[in-house]
Amino acid sequence: MPCGTRMSPAETDLGPNEGLIEVPGSRRALLTPALVVDLDKFETNLLRHQRICGEAGLRMRPHAKTHKCSEIAKRQAEAGAVGVCCATLHEAEVMVGAGIDGVLITSPVVGAARIGRMIKLAGSARRFKLVADNPVNLRAISEAAEALAQPLEVLVDIDIGMQRTGVAAPEDAVALARMISEAPNLTYRGVQAYSGRVQHINDLTERRQVYGEQLAHLKTVIEALGAAGLPPAIVTGGGTGSLVIDIETGIFTEHQTGSYIFMDVEYNEVSMPIAGNIPFQTSLLMQCTVVSNNADGFVTINGGYKSFATDGPKPKVADPELSGSIYDRFGDEHGKIVLGPGNLAPELGAPVNLITPHCDPTVNLHNYLHCVRGDKLVDIWPIDARGVL
Ligand SMILES: Cc1ncc(COP(=O)(O)O)c(C=O)c1O
Repeated sequence: MPCGTRMSPAETDLGPNEGLIEVPGSRRALLTPALVVDLDKFETNLLRHQRICGEAGLRMRPHAKTHKCSEIAKRQAEAGAVGVCCATLHEAEVMVGAGIDGVLITSPVVGAARIGRMIKLAGSARRFKLVADNPVNLRAISEAAEALAQPLEVLVDIDIGMQRTGVAAPEDAVALARMISEAPNLTYRGVQAYSGRVQHINDLTERRQVYGEQLAHLKTVIEALGAAGLPPAIVTGGGTGSLVIDIETGIFTEHQTGSYIFMDVEYNEVSMPIAGNIPFQTSLLMQCTVVSNNADGFVTINGGYKSFATDGPKPKVADPELSGSIYDRFGDEHGKIVLGPGNLAPELGAPVNLITPHCDPTVNLHNYLHCVRGDKLVDIWPIDARGVL
């Protein structure tokens, strides 16, 4: 299905820029701050990811935490994904509600209220799965799953070094896998192993070394599961930074790549040559507007802490005519564009485009993705799974 073809009903609220769709030259006229998706680059990322995973024999279950947008999940499914990963119940509810099959919740679902909501969701979903890393939590999930017509598919979350969630010891993994396989309301499907920090080790040699040790541990866990008669049918994990390694090792059966679809300032620093090149392009930009240009040497734009994630580096100016200019933080609603040598100050009201520092938490701050081809707004996709609950 061509990108830029909406699949949801037209009555969805598309925000203040809706009237600009298909208007020639409308990209420059967007009300801002507005997240902009360059559909040509987005489609290139989608196809490259499909080819890379296909050639490596890896199934794709991309992480929807990056985009939180059911329109994108549908396109990932069209490109061959077996489902999407979700970090929150809300993401999962939105994705299932939009007709996406094969949702995997990659964070533990803990507490009676959340488990109740998850069971209700599982009852209305196809090929729904979740991870667990704790026997008490598993018992509660197993009891609640009695309400389901089909057994609930569960994977054991393995900690391969990040210590965020999961069990590290092979015997703990075996115990959980056994518990799942013996529970009448659960089906044991395999393991998840995700390592966040290694994704952003910029140097590939260093990343190979740190991640290599973690993958060796994962192999030990998988061998222990096999020896216990519990070989994992699914081994899921990986991110954009580890993809270059994961396609060589053959440990994973499927991949949870997230940021590849957009890329950002952080990931543009990570060396990930696949067939000689960095495979993914920056498809996501934040368009802001010059709201004051009275000072010498810089202009003020309307994008500050409330528009960009602040956990990482600063946004980067993307417009070629401002090459050499840099973004500086200037408060909640404002940013400073310090002009580079020879750069002319943009006029009041002029658009300025920036590469987002860290795409996931930036996207979560906004309501819409404005899809462009060249200089024209061609569609708007709601970020319908944004939020944290
Ligand atoms: C469990 C899990 N899987 C996959 C991903 C995707 O990683 P990336 O955005 O680096 O591709 C994340 C991102 O934080 C994650 O938490």
